[in-house]
Amino acid sequence: MDRTVQTGRVVLVTGASRGIGAGAARQLLDRGVRVAGTYRTGRENVERLGPADQVLPVHLDLADLDTAEAAIKAVDQRWGRLDALVLNAAVWNGGKLATIDLDAWWSVIDANLRSTAAIVRAAIPWLVRAENPSVVIVGSAVGSIGFPGDTAYASAKAAAVGFARSLAKELAQDRVRVNVLAPGFVDTDMTSAISDRSRRKIADATLLGRFGTVEEIARAAVFLSEDATFCTGAVLAADGGWTL
Ligand SMILES: NC(=O)c1ccc[n+]([C@@H]2O[C@H](COP(=O)([O-])OP(=O)(O)OC[C@H]3O[C@@H](n4cnc5c(N)ncnc54)[C@H](OP(=O)(O)O)[C@@H]3O)[C@@H](O)[C@H]2O)c1
Repeated sequence: MDRTVQTGRVVLVTGASRGIGAGAARQLLDRGVRVAGTYRTGRENVERLGPADQVLPVHLDLADLDTAEAAIKAVDQRWGRLDALVLNAAVWNGGKLATIDLDAWWSVIDANLRSTAAIVRAAIPWLVRAENPSVVIVGSAVGSIGFPGDTAYASAKAAAVGFARSLAKELAQDRVRVNVLAPGFVDTDMTSAISDRSRRKIADATLLGRFGTVEEIARAAVFLSEDATFCTGAVLAADGGWTL
C-alpha cells in the first residue's frame, strides 16, 4: 500500500480532545496529515496533539449547529482546503425508555444525527475538490444489535448507516467515499463508568475476550479515511466479534 500523503492533506477529526478521536488525530499526524481537531471543552488536549502548524484546535458543540458551520469555515480560513472528515464526537446519554424524559431522549438523536448532517453539508464544497476525499462516521455496534438503556444512542448510530450509504450514493460522482466504523466496547472515558461485573460480562460475550483499545479503533478509522480507496458505503465492524 502506498502511504504517501499528498502534500498538505487536511483532515477534520471531531472529538479529537480525548479517546478514539485523539487516537485517530495522533495517527494521522504521524502520517504527515494536518489535523483540524474539534473539542467541546478540551482545547488544550487538542493543542497538545502536535505542533501548531500541523494542528488546528476548533470548537464544536454537537448541540449547536452554528458551531458546525463555523468549524468548517475555520479550517478554510487556516488552510484553504479540507480533504476528509472523521466524524467521531458523539453524545451518549442512556436511560431505559420507560423512565427517560422524551426531550432528553430526542436530544441524543438530535445532537448526534443533525450535527453529522450539518458538518458534512458545510464540508461538501471542499470535499468535492479534494484528492482521495472521504467521510468516516464513527457509529457503534450498538446501532445494529442494541443495548439496554440505549434506545436513543442506538437509534442515532443505526441512522448513521443509512445516512452514510445514501450520502455515498449522492457523492460518488465526486469520488467522495463515505464509510461507517462500528466499534464494539472500547476503553475510553465513555465506558469508564461500566461496573467491573458488566465489563466481565461484555468481555465474555466478545469473541476476543476483551475491550478494544483506542489505538486499535483509531487504526480502523484511519484505514477507512486514508487507505480504503475502494470502500464506500461500507460498515467496518471493529468489535472483537461482540456482534457475532
Ligand atoms: N468507547 C466505546 O466503547 C465506543 C463504542 C462504540 C462507539 N463509540 C463511538 O466512538 C466515538 C468516540 O467515543 P469515545 O469513547 O472516544 O468518547 P470519549 O472518550 O468520551 O470522547 C468524547 C469526545 O467527544 C467530544 N464531545 C462530547 N460531547 C460533545 C458535544 N456535545 N459536542 C462536541 N463534542 C463533544 C469530547 O470533547 P471534549 O473532551 O472537548 O468535551 C471528546 O473529544 C463516539 O462516536 C462513540 O459513540 C465508542
